[in-house]
Amino acid sequence: MKRSLSPTRREFLATAATLALTPRALLAQSSPLASDPRRPKFHLLPAKNWMNDPNGPIFFNGKYHMFFQYNPHAATWGDMSWYHSTSPDMLHWTHAPLAFAPTPGSPDAFGCFSGSALAVGKRVYQVYTGVVESTPDKATIRDGSDKLQESQCLAYSDDPQLIHWTKLPQPIVPLPPAGMAITGFRDPSAWKQGDTYYMTVGSGIARVGGCVLLYRSKDLKTWEYLHPLTSGTWNGKKTPNPCDDGEMWECPEFFALDGMHVLIYSTLGKVFWQSGKLDVATMKFTPTKTGLLDLDAFYAPKTQLDAQGRRILWGWIPERRNDKAMLEAGWSGMMSLPRVMRLDSDGTLRLQSLPEAAKLRAGTVPAEKTREGTLHTLPAANGEVLCRASSGKNFELSISTGTTELMHIAYSSARHAFLADGHEIALQPGDLPRLHAFVDGSVIELIVSERIGYTKRFYYEGSTAPDIHVHTTGLGEVTVDAWKIRPISINRLTT
Ligand code: FRU
Repeated sequence: MKRSLSPTRREFLATAATLALTPRALLAQSSPLASDPRRPKFHLLPAKNWMNDPNGPIFFNGKYHMFFQYNPHAATWGDMSWYHSTSPDMLHWTHAPLAFAPTPGSPDAFGCFSGSALAVGKRVYQVYTGVVESTPDKATIRDGSDKLQESQCLAYSDDPQLIHWTKLPQPIVPLPPAGMAITGFRDPSAWKQGDTYYMTVGSGIARVGGCVLLYRSKDLKTWEYLHPLTSGTWNGKKTPNPCDDGEMWECPEFFALDGMHVLIYSTLGKVFWQSGKLDVATMKFTPTKTGLLDLDAFYAPKTQLDAQGRRILWGWIPERRNDKAMLEAGWSGMMSLPRVMRLDSDGTLRLQSLPEAAKLRAGTVPAEKTREGTLHTLPAANGEVLCRASSGKNFELSISTGTTELMHIAYSSARHAFLADGHEIALQPGDLPRLHAFVDGSVIELIVSERIGYTKRFYYEGSTAPDIHVHTTGLGEVTVDAWKIRPISINRLTT
C-alpha cells in the first residue's frame, strides 16, 4: 500500500504518546530539519547543528549514556561542548541537557574536547581535554596558528541520571611531558587495572610521528607520565594539521579484548586498530596485527562495554560537503550505529553490526529478478541489506540511486578478497563473503565480512530522498535479504 511520507495527525499523536514526547519535542516537529530527507531516521544525531566525536559512552544505572562533541551555535565546528543522549538499547535515544560547555576563565574556556568515561562505584568520571587560547610558546596544537593550549581535565557526576556534573577547577595533567616537540596533547581515556588507574593521551612528535602517552595514578587526580604506549611514523609530507600527515594521533583508546589488548587511534583521516600483548609488569604494548576500522566516513571512535559485556564501537560519521552546505542544511554529522568488536585467536579484529538492530526491521523489501541477478529497491533511501554467498563464486554488489552509483563491491573467489571501490579487503581462509549494509537518508554503513566498515555519505537535491537500488550480480549462490527500517523517532530530530 502506498503511504504518504508525513504521518496523519492521529498517527503522529499515537507515536508521540508511545515515545512519551515532551511539548518541546512536539514543537520541534515543525523544524525544517525534521523534513530534510538527508537527515537519518535511525542514527543518533542532535536536533540541529554540528556534532563530531563520540565521548565517554557508558552503560550506567541501567541506561546507555552517549556524549559527543557538539557546537550549540552553528552547523560548523566551534564552541566545543558535550551533548548528552540516553538510550535503553543503543538504538533509540532521548536528548538530555548539555553535559559540558566551556567555562569562562577555566582550563576549558575555549572548548571541552574529547574524553572518556570511567565509573567508580556510583560516581562517573569523565576525563577530557580542556582547551584555552594561549601564546605560541605554550601552544600544544601545532597547526600553524599555534594559538591553543590543551590540558587534561576531570569532571564527575554523582547523579544517577548523569545530568549534573562537577568540573575540577584545575587540570589533572596541565602540561605535556617536558622536552618533547609535541604536535598535540588531547583525548584522554582512563581505566583501572588492579589498584592503579592508567590513562592514555593522544599525541605525537614533530617530524617523527603520532604516539600514545601513558600515565598512571592512584586517585585519578595526580598523574605520573610513564612512557609512550606505542608510536607510529610520520608520512614525511608536512601538512599544516599534524593529524593529516601521521604526526599526531587523535582519540586513542586502549582496552582488553578476548585475551589480548587492542589500541584504536585516528590519524590521516582514518581509524587504525592494533592488537597485541600488553606486558603488565612494564606496561609496554607490543602490537602484532594492525588494520583499518573503516574505509571512509568514520572517525574518532570510542568504545564501551554494554550491559552484556560486549565491546561496542561508536564512530563519528562526518559530512563530505563544505561548510556552506552544512550551514545551509543547519546540521552536520551523525553517530554510527553500534558495532560489536571481537578478536579472533590470531588477533584479527572482527566487527559486526549490533544484532539487536534487527528489531528495527519494518518488513522485507522484495527481490526483483534482472538479467544479471537481483535488484532490491530501498524506498526513500531507507533500509538494510544482507548479502551472503559461498566462497567459491564471484559476485558483485552495486548500490546506486538508479542513475548514480554510490558503492561498488566485487568479491573475487580467486583472491578470496573483496574489491570495494578500489580498496582490496583480503579475507581470512575461513571467512564467508558477506556484506551487511544500512542505508539512512544520506549514509551507507556497510560491514564487509565482519572485517572492516565502509561508511559512505551521499547527497542529492530537493525534498525527497531517492529510492536506492541494490543490484547483486554473479554466477554463484548469493542470498540477498533486504528490509525497510523503522524510524527511531517521529521526525528526523531524534528528540
Ligand atoms: C577528533 C578531534 C579530537 C578533539 C576533538 C575536538 O575529531 O579533533 O582530537 O578532541 O575532535 O572537537
